[in-house]
Amino acid sequence: MRVALTVNGERREADLWGGESLLTLLRDSLELPGSKNACEQGECGSCSVLYDGVLVCACLVLAAQADGHDVVTVEGLARGDELHRVQEAFVETGAVQCGFCTPGLVVAVADLLAREPNPSDDEIRESLAGNVCRCTGYVKIFDAVRLAAAGR
Ligand code: FES
Ligand code: FES
Repeated sequence: MRVALTVNGERREADLWGGESLLTLLRDSLELPGSKNACEQGECGSCSVLYDGVLVCACLVLAAQADGHDVVTVEGLARGDELHRVQEAFVETGAVQCGFCTPGLVVAVADLLAREPNPSDDEIRESLAGNVCRCTGYVKIFDAVRLAAAGR
């Protein structure tokens, strides 16, 4: 079947098979490899994207369902050469080690700060509970969220 959707502000079309996930559509057909495939079971958050403005795991959304919908991936956050402030904060605080979790976390943090510009530590914890990082111990990630929230 063929689907047409908006991805990062652009209309995109692709052919797919019925059981394909939004994640494989983004990565394999639309050449947007920023969203990572770590568990493919909705457990790790590495594939986090905004789907009609709502944070979802792209591995749990059927690609066929996305027909006519709006998706924003990590590639859609920067403006040309200008990084999103969350991306800058991750770099500045050293919140990236292997980087596999980073795209999903960046999307999740951007979503959090759009909803709650000055989150408490508990709100950060709750919002990022679905994003697993096996490298950083989360300390630097929290630093990045606070830095991005401060708008510095
Ligand atoms: S790859 Fe989607 S939640 Fe892990
Ligand atoms: S930086 Fe390696 S999993 Fe998070």
